[in-house]
Amino acid sequence: MCGIIGCVGKKSAAPYIIQGLKNLEYRGYDSAGIAVIQDGKLLRLRAAGKVNALEKLAAKKNFTGVSALGHTRWATHGKPCEANSHPHTDCGGTLAVVHNGIIENYLPLKEELKKKGHVFRSETDTEVIAHLIEENLKTENKNAPAEKRLLSAVQKTVKRITGAFAVGVIWSGAPNIIAGVRRQSPLAVGLGDNENFIASDVSAFLKHTKKAVFPEDDEIVLISPSGAKFYDADGCQKKPQITKIKWSSAQAEKGGFEHFMLKEIYEQPDAVADTLRFGTDDMPSIFGVDKNEVKQIKNIQILACGTAYHAAMTAKYFIEQYAGVPVNADYASEYKYRSVPPAAGTLVIAVSQSGETADTNAAFKKAKSLGFKTMAICNVLGSTLTRMADHTFYTRCGPEISVASTKAYTSQLAALYGLALFLGRENGGLSEERFKSLSEEFFSLPRLLDETLKMLAPAVEKLAKKVYRRETYVFLARGVNYPAALEGALKLKEISYLHAEGFPGGEIKHGPIALIDKNLPVIALMPKDALFEKMLSACEETKARGARVIAVTDSKGAEILKNKVSDILVIPPATPFLTPVLNAVAVQLFAYYIAKLRKREIDQPRNLAKSVTVE
Ligand code: M6R
Repeated sequence: MCGIIGCVGKKSAAPYIIQGLKNLEYRGYDSAGIAVIQDGKLLRLRAAGKVNALEKLAAKKNFTGVSALGHTRWATHGKPCEANSHPHTDCGGTLAVVHNGIIENYLPLKEELKKKGHVFRSETDTEVIAHLIEENLKTENKNAPAEKRLLSAVQKTVKRITGAFAVGVIWSGAPNIIAGVRRQSPLAVGLGDNENFIASDVSAFLKHTKKAVFPEDDEIVLISPSGAKFYDADGCQKKPQITKIKWSSAQAEKGGFEHFMLKEIYEQPDAVADTLRFGTDDMPSIFGVDKNEVKQIKNIQILACGTAYHAAMTAKYFIEQYAGVPVNADYASEYKYRSVPPAAGTLVIAVSQSGETADTNAAFKKAKSLGFKTMAICNVLGSTLTRMADHTFYTRCGPEISVASTKAYTSQLAALYGLALFLGRENGGLSEERFKSLSEEFFSLPRLLDETLKMLAPAVEKLAKKVYRRETYVFLARGVNYPAALEGALKLKEISYLHAEGFPGGEIKHGPIALIDKNLPVIALMPKDALFEKMLSACEETKARGARVIAVTDSKGAEILKNKVSDILVIPPATPFLTPVLNAVAVQLFAYYIAKLRKREIDQPRNLAKSVTVE
């Protein structure tokens, strides 16, 4: 997730760009850059770090050009440094590109362009767009108007690239035009008075105009000081639908949501889709192990803290089920201080959103010192953890601003589920047929998450109003969903400061049942799987002691439970081992709405930090 902005008008564009980038900084701040068309030439300035660093450098330049692009980066391809910062230019230095998203086929395109003589100066996927447009411009009729040539070259480029993108392009050949195009990544067009904008979201230009257009996939927009023209993928001009934005800048940053946490809960279908932007054939390179190496993996040790630890615990179920390899999940803070016997064929995986958690990094360092092969599953490119790992799988969910982790968690679960399928296929734990059918559903996870959000959100909000006054909550689940019960309890504790516990359904009778009293909410995660009946018994045990049982289940489970529990939240039907990802959404929403009713500081709960960098 990066932030892009383009502005063309009658005044110097640089101040608009810098201000806009500051409003987009929540989307990433590894580095920032600006490109301006001035006196017929393309000028570019980039700086590692936050937009402030770029602003200081820009103040020393005399940018007077009225057409400019800007970018604030959250690194996905290539470490955060000046050379990888956007805007990226073509060989001739006449055009510049800013991009948010992932170009999936950038490697073959890069090879093709290199063969044609193009010289690449960054490790990014984005740079291929600049060179492709340059290549396509060469074939345009030189006598055609520059605007038409740019439109056509961008069109041809868009047809060659796959993946998700929102792109802005400026070219000294058409100095008063900026081209914008999107596919799956967000892009808003702002229509002002003699000044027009493109940006990742409206917060970047709300100060100047509240009139916006949201182009559809593959639609190309050309903005100039006098207006904006919209074209479909075949170049036919379209009439735009203008929206009047009512949000304030602060609301716009949160996409109109009241809190970053809720925004991030809703971003999960996209976050998981971006994490899963690979095919089954890419799995060896994505997971950094080939068939022979997989065969040498005799056991797996997963290290993590907090929410990431719950993802690690879930992975034990995934991997042992599909690949038959024994897995041990450890709190990183415990692993570091326990004696670890040597074991040949051990793969150590650390799971971390930030890659900067001191406990996780210290445990990982210990694993490395013991000579184990290591892998990181991490969301932040270039973080300390990824620099230590033999290989990193990046969850690509963009910056997570809310302290309570949501989209990083479901992306970690997706990554670990994919790893389990891959290991199972390579070591023979799964037949090719079973691998195929499981993979098909696995890659449809973004759609399942989308459905889950639609099915759950209003119902959970309503339910929260009934129970939020209770001081203690119990989450129950079994098998692969047990860690989701722990995650539910953790989310609720973190943001509502209420007492919550998660237990395996079968364990409640061994002690925790003493907690149950009249109306105590018991949230039972119980899809209609092989353990459903067992969970039903656990529910009955708590109900008999007066608990208010809230079941999260699928439609088949709901049918059976309708007169047996107080409330039912329905998730879509899914392979049993994918249900922890859907149940995660249920417990996140539950915690969110309780905390909201309790008027808590949801995005920055007391005593917590987003990244715990001390042991
Ligand atoms: O950045 P990490 O994933 O390594 O962070 C680990 C935990 O500190 C983190 O998951 C924490 O538990 C969150 N606040 C959970 O919402």
